[in-house]
Amino acid sequence: MLDACGRTIDYVRISITDRCNLRCVYCMPEEGVSCLRHADILTFEEIERVVRALQRLGVRYVRVTGGEPMARLGCLELVERIHWIPGIEEIAMTTNGILLDGQVERAKQAGLDALNISLDTLDPEVYRRITRGGELEKVLRVIDDALAAGLRVKINAVPVRGWSEDGLTGLAALARERDISVRFIELMPVGCGAALSPIPSDELEARMAAAFGPLTKDESHHGYGPARYVRPAGFRGSIGFISPMSHEFCDRCNRVRLTADGFLKLCLNHRAGLDLRALLRDGISEEGLETALREAIARKPRRHGFSEAIDDREERRMNEIGG
Ligand code: GTP
Ligand code: 5AD
Ligand code: SF4
Repeated sequence: MLDACGRTIDYVRISITDRCNLRCVYCMPEEGVSCLRHADILTFEEIERVVRALQRLGVRYVRVTGGEPMARLGCLELVERIHWIPGIEEIAMTTNGILLDGQVERAKQAGLDALNISLDTLDPEVYRRITRGGELEKVLRVIDDALAAGLRVKINAVPVRGWSEDGLTGLAALARERDISVRFIELMPVGCGAALSPIPSDELEARMAAAFGPLTKDESHHGYGPARYVRPAGFRGSIGFISPMSHEFCDRCNRVRLTADGFLKLCLNHRAGLDLRALLRDGISEEGLETALREAIARKPRRHGFSEAIDDREERRMNEIGG
C-alpha cells in the first residue's frame, strides 16, 4: 500500500524479543536491562495474524529481528510459519549469529532466504570488547555455514570511533573471496548510540577506495533495504553503505516495524504508531485490523528527524526497536 507521502510500504521488520545474548556498546547497556515479560510479548499466533493482515495490504518482505531473534525459543518455527504465508516472497533475519552456530541448515530448511549478521571487527579481542563477551569464531563459522547452505549473506558493521576504527578494510576484504556484502552502517543517535561517535560513510568509502582501488557501483539485487553497494575490482562480493545520517533515504522508505510487545512502529525515530497488542487481545475482527493498519500506515512520518527537534522522538533502545 501507499502511505500519505506516496511511498510503497511492502516490508515489515518484526522484533520477536528485546532480549539479547550480547551487549554491544552502541545498542545495550552492560547491566541493569529490564526485559519484557513473556505475557507482554506477542505470541507466534498473534504475529502470524498481523503478518497475514499486512500481506493483504501489500507487504511482501519480512525481516525477523530482536534483540537477538534466536534468543527467543522457537524462532525458526516462526520463520517457517511466516515462510508459508501466501504472498510473502522473502523472509530474512538480522542476527549476531552466535546462537545460529550449528542451526544454519535448520534455518535454511525453515525457509529462511537471507541472513544479515552483525560483525564489527575480525579481531577476537576487539569483538569481545564491543559485544561485551561475544565469541568471534562462532560468528565466522556461521557465515561460512550460511554461504554453504545457499543463504544470501550480508555483514552489518557499525563503525564507532575509538572502538572499531582499525581493521575495517580487513573486514570489507571478507567480500573479496566470498559472495557476501559487507555493509557499513552509520551509527544512529538512538539509545546507547547517542553517547558514541559515528564514522560517516563518505570517510569509509574513501578508506575503501584507498585500500582496494576504484569502487564500481553495484546495482545487482541485494535485498530491499536502504544500502547502496559498490564493488572493487577482483571482489566476488560487495561493500555496502547505509547512511541514515549523511545521506538520508527516508523518501524511499518502504517499511514499518512491529515491536516484540506488539506496537506497530511507523518510523525508527518516532514514537508514532499503533498498539496492535491491545487490539488483538480485545478481539478485533480481520476487517477491523486491516482498517486500523491502513489508517496507521497512512500516518507514517515523512523523515526520521534525527538532527531536528521533533515532538515524538523515540525513547526505546535499539534492542527494543529491532534496528
Ligand atoms: P536488506 O537490505 O533487505 O538486507 O535489509 P536492511 O538492510 O534494511 O536490514 P538490516 O536489519 O540488516 O538493517 C541494517 C541497518 O540499517 C540497521 O542498523 C538498521 O537500523 C538500519 N535500517 C534499516 N532500515 C532502516 C530505516 O528504515 N531507517 C533507518 N534510519 N535505518 C534503517
Ligand atoms: N546505530 C546504527 N545501527 C545500530 N545497530 C544497533 N544499534 C545501532 C545504532 N545505534 C545495528 C546492529 C544490527 C542492526 C539491526 O542494527 O548492528 O546490525
Ligand atoms: Fe523510514 Fe524512518 Fe528509516 Fe527514514 S528513518 S527510512 S522514514 S523508518
